[in-house]
Amino acid sequence: MNGIPVIDLFAGPGGLCEGFASLTKGESRCFEIRVSIEKDPIAHKTLSLRALFRSFPVGKVPAAYYQYIRGEISREQLESDPVVIPYVKKSYAEARCAELGKNDHSEIDSWIRDGLAGAKEWVLIGGPPCQAYSIVGRSRMRGNNPKEFESDKRHFLYKEYLRIIKEFSPSVFVMENVKGMLTSQHSGSLIFNRILEDLQLPGNGHEYLVRSFVVPGEISDPDDFVIKSENFGIPQSRHRVILFGIRADIAESVPDLVNRPERFSLEQSPLVCARDVLDGLPPLRSKLSNRYDGMTDSVANWQKALTNGLKVLEKKKSAVPLRVLERAQWAVTKSWIHKSTGGQFIQSDISMNEPLASWYLDPEIGGVTLHETRSHMESDLHRYLFASSFAREEKRSPRLSDFPQALLPNHQNLNNESTPFLDRFRVQLRNQPSTTIVSHISKDGHYYIHPEPSQCRSLTVREAARLQTFPDNYFFEGNRTQQYHQVGNAVPPLLARKIAEIVLRLLQSAGL
Ligand SMILES: C[S@@+](CC[C@H](N)C(=O)[O-])C[C@H]1O[C@@H](n2cnc3c(N)ncnc32)[C@H](O)[C@@H]1O
Repeated sequence: MNGIPVIDLFAGPGGLCEGFASLTKGESRCFEIRVSIEKDPIAHKTLSLRALFRSFPVGKVPAAYYQYIRGEISREQLESDPVVIPYVKKSYAEARCAELGKNDHSEIDSWIRDGLAGAKEWVLIGGPPCQAYSIVGRSRMRGNNPKEFESDKRHFLYKEYLRIIKEFSPSVFVMENVKGMLTSQHSGSLIFNRILEDLQLPGNGHEYLVRSFVVPGEISDPDDFVIKSENFGIPQSRHRVILFGIRADIAESVPDLVNRPERFSLEQSPLVCARDVLDGLPPLRSKLSNRYDGMTDSVANWQKALTNGLKVLEKKKSAVPLRVLERAQWAVTKSWIHKSTGGQFIQSDISMNEPLASWYLDPEIGGVTLHETRSHMESDLHRYLFASSFAREEKRSPRLSDFPQALLPNHQNLNNESTPFLDRFRVQLRNQPSTTIVSHISKDGHYYIHPEPSQCRSLTVREAARLQTFPDNYFFEGNRTQQYHQVGNAVPPLLARKIAEIVLRLLQSAGL
């Protein structure tokens, strides 16, 4: 073990640690994930699978791994494959399923102590959960029960992160969270100020400088901690707070932190758009849900649903711009070629342009996994057909006033606060980064309508994972809802890799 040790708390499916682990020099990893801790058993299953994947020598992943993600063998069979067996124990020593704040501290500490194996210079990463800080969550919770909100222990889960800093004094820490963290209040004062003070002086005799990854030098405005992913080559507009903590003695040994602080900031990259990562995946049709109208799913019935949708638009011609109507007509004609609804694995030649191909593709897969469409009700298919045709022609997702009346749901208040129509139907545009992939994608796909009208559907798990920059050989455990949930929770691994490059530069400048 010779990479710089990394400990990941609140690890989710492992997006942040994947970025760190992906940095290699020759056949060695620059960082080595020694322990990652996650409380959700399904996300942990994903995490331990990826830990197994990484435990094989770089570039030497056994065939059994690919058989597993293609659904040809069970996890049990994978883990009892003679080539895999020697690596299984290590993967479970790395990925731990535990609830921070609930599980015994001594148990958590012993994992970390064993993982660090005496190393004094190491990196702590992770993001204490965000429900209590998130703007939506906040108003919802405060509305329901203000007292309960004030005493919600999730406000203080960062203390578990802080406790590990205090106990083990990492050289550097990287802490991710939602933007709401900057404005959330507790007992009348900003939680963020308290978090920042605690992180700067964790009470172990060390001081930490807390810097931004985007604004060089000392920070005067908390908004400077916000990273806008789309500025850094991520095909998704995702804005998150990421703090970069540096132990004072390390900082003192790096004069460039003062003289050339821009060396430790992310470099802007050209825009990467949704089409750059979605094109090249096998096109699919959606499934037809028989929940309300009793139409069973079949190619013919799906086609019929689309044709009915087109009839609605043709009838409301005056309310639909001509080119949108023509696009919808063309899409319905073309939709005949989309027969497949996908599956856990589709054998296919997957293509992509460089440099993205080197990050995403793995020819050993032999196709694509987790690329299966959801079922949609016929009335939603009509809206998808209109909305995606509109977006294709008008280069924006339609507003409420753009929808023909006949497509609007008549049984609910369109501006109802809990389900505003516009927040429920959104097309992802081909020529722009997507909107933020959040865990709500697991509930329904209306906010994530595929840009291609002839496919008339929401994004698959693999497409959401692509927008989150997970490599294609990253496999998410659980059922489809759980897979979407994990994808939406993660830090984009490619962004995490760019952050890891900065951390590495800093540690190397400090002579480590
Ligand atoms: C925002 S996600 C983290 C995403 C992760 N950094 C990544 O890049 O994939 C937060 C995770 O914290 C987990 N979590 C919440 N409370 C926890 C606790 N007390 N102990 C351990 N994990 C917890 C949640 O299950 C969730 O997966």
